[in-house]
Amino acid sequence: MTEKSRQYARQAKEWTERSYADATAYLGHRAELVVSLGPRLEPGDEVLDLACGDGGFGEALLARGLRYRGVDATPEMVAQARSRLRGRAPVELGDLDDYEPPVPVAATTLFRALYYARERRAFFRRVAEYTERKLVFDVNPRQYRIDYVLADLREAGLSRVELRPFFVPQTVALPRPVLAAAVALERSGPLARLALRFRFTYVVAASREA
Ligand SMILES: C[S@@+](CC[C@H](N)C(=O)[O-])C[C@H]1O[C@@H](n2cnc3c(N)ncnc32)[C@H](O)[C@@H]1O
Repeated sequence: MTEKSRQYARQAKEWTERSYADATAYLGHRAELVVSLGPRLEPGDEVLDLACGDGGFGEALLARGLRYRGVDATPEMVAQARSRLRGRAPVELGDLDDYEPPVPVAATTLFRALYYARERRAFFRRVAEYTERKLVFDVNPRQYRIDYVLADLREAGLSRVELRPFFVPQTVALPRPVLAAAVALERSGPLARLALRFRFTYVVAASREA
């Protein structure tokens, strides 16, 4: 067991409540983008959430009428997610590098965990095999060359890509009007790209060409 996985085990209890200053706003906006960015999801579609943590994001997706399946490699996170979701969604212990859902899913998500994929290109290829509509994940452009990530997606057959800056802060709760302005700024083009040079992430929706 690595120090990082021991750390996740210790942090599993109330991970969502402690990680997000305003979990409803942060995970709610993330869920909106999972639905609307790229090919649209419809109520009843199943979302596989890899590295799901304590399943906090599951609440936001279930609230939008989607079905949810969580997978995480830390047993304590899986236990917390099962207790949070209380039978409303399956949660399994598994590694994002080799997990395969029992049947194909409409969408696969991976949030704050891209760096755990052993080999990114192979990971995208595997996800593309069991994902019918899109893969949605976040990426920090100061940590990763976006053109390299896009090249890996293309190689996996996921060449239709939409990128959206994500400006709901993780550790600060904003008053509602400021939050609305932050979300509006996500579509501001050059201004949004400037902000991304210093903070924040992109959400990426990748799918096959129609
Ligand atoms: C930073 S947390 C993100 C949790 C959640 N996705 C979120 O956005 O709040 C990273 C999660 O990845 C999980 N994890 C780390 N390596 C993994 C792997 N190889 N397969 C599946 N889950 C993994 C950890 O247990 C932890 O729950």
